Amino acid sequence: MTQSHSTPIPATLIPGDGIGPEIVKSVVAVLAAVGAPFAWDVQKAGMSAVAESLDPLPEPTLVSIRRTGLALKGPLTTPVGGGFRSINVRLREEFKLYANVRPGQTLIPGGRYDNIDIVMVRENLEGLYVGFDHYIPIDNDPHGAAISSGVNTRAGSRRIARYAFEYAVRHGRKKVTIVHKANILKALTGIFLETALEIAKEYEGRVVVDERIVDACAMQLVLNPWQFDVILTTNLFGDILSDEIAGLVGGLGLAPGANIGEHAAIFEAVHGSAPDIAGKGIANPLALLSAAAMMLDHVNRLDLGNRVRQAIHEVLITDGIRTQDLGGKATTAEVTEALLKRVQ
Ligand code: NAI
Ligand code: MG
Repeated sequence: MTQSHSTPIPATLIPGDGIGPEIVKSVVAVLAAVGAPFAWDVQKAGMSAVAESLDPLPEPTLVSIRRTGLALKGPLTTPVGGGFRSINVRLREEFKLYANVRPGQTLIPGGRYDNIDIVMVRENLEGLYVGFDHYIPIDNDPHGAAISSGVNTRAGSRRIARYAFEYAVRHGRKKVTIVHKANILKALTGIFLETALEIAKEYEGRVVVDERIVDACAMQLVLNPWQFDVILTTNLFGDILSDEIAGLVGGLGLAPGANIGEHAAIFEAVHGSAPDIAGKGIANPLALLSAAAMMLDHVNRLDLGNRVRQAIHEVLITDGIRTQDLGGKATTAEVTEALLKRVQ
């Protein structure tokens, strides 16, 4: 995906619900100021679509992402009731977004742990999330037993492992830790471990490979998180450990996430639409801005991604300008202004 520096890159922009439009406006302004090459196609999803009697994930939005293969998405409120499926799950399935990537970095020192820098690469389509999950009646009890099956394929394991090692190489990371439970779930997570170790051989001398059983990894993350660099794991373990890592670095407030497929990639903040503060002008735009920095990396503009990350660091630490959720008093507009000064 090599792009010359001047070629505009079409990208879908979904402002989303709640605080979405406020933080998207801030992020778009900062991206414009650093000269990000995105040519935005603004599309609806979530409650803003439902308000116009559309599906929460309208067809034009899907068509746009199919065309651009790249999206920055504000948080979406999943309508409660009415049989709506989670929009995020629908997007993941529709575009086969097999890799969920969540960096966990200490951005504000003085918390429980300083200098943490871990990237979680989670398989996003297989494992125990495939939905083979049902009850079996026993005697008069319709829920007499519950059965769940997970599916991990060789191809799926290979694809996510390759993504993790390529990510490590591209971002100058030294180690990938494969996390599994192959001592008990011998087939289900054994195939994942075996396949990931095969892929690791191709990176010998470039990326160190390590492996951990998931329960030991959970403990090690608390005892000595600095030993981890990139963590590669299956869907459910990744779900659990990524929240653990977010907890180590002070919660979800600054956390970005990426969902990556072969033909599309969608970048977003980990937090939701924050209806309690929507419209008040006090939302923190930095999680979504960090997601936008990942999007710049993804289109091979690490230079711009790094500039955005540097500006975030300077605004938070040097300028000490922070929104309420980070213990400060600044508004979204004030944080945006400070960022714009820093990227000039
Ligand atoms: P939430 O993340 O929206 O809010 C939790 C708390 O964090 C609230 O007090 C909120 O004010 C605060 N917060 C979140 N983001 C903030 C920001 N950028 N700046 C300052 N404060 C912030 O989680 P909640 O309330 O559980 O969910 C609200 C809605 O968002 C629900 O409809 C949920 O389904 C949806 N959601 C969507 C996600 C997505 O689109 N990726 C992810 C998580 C939730
Ligand atoms: Mg989760």
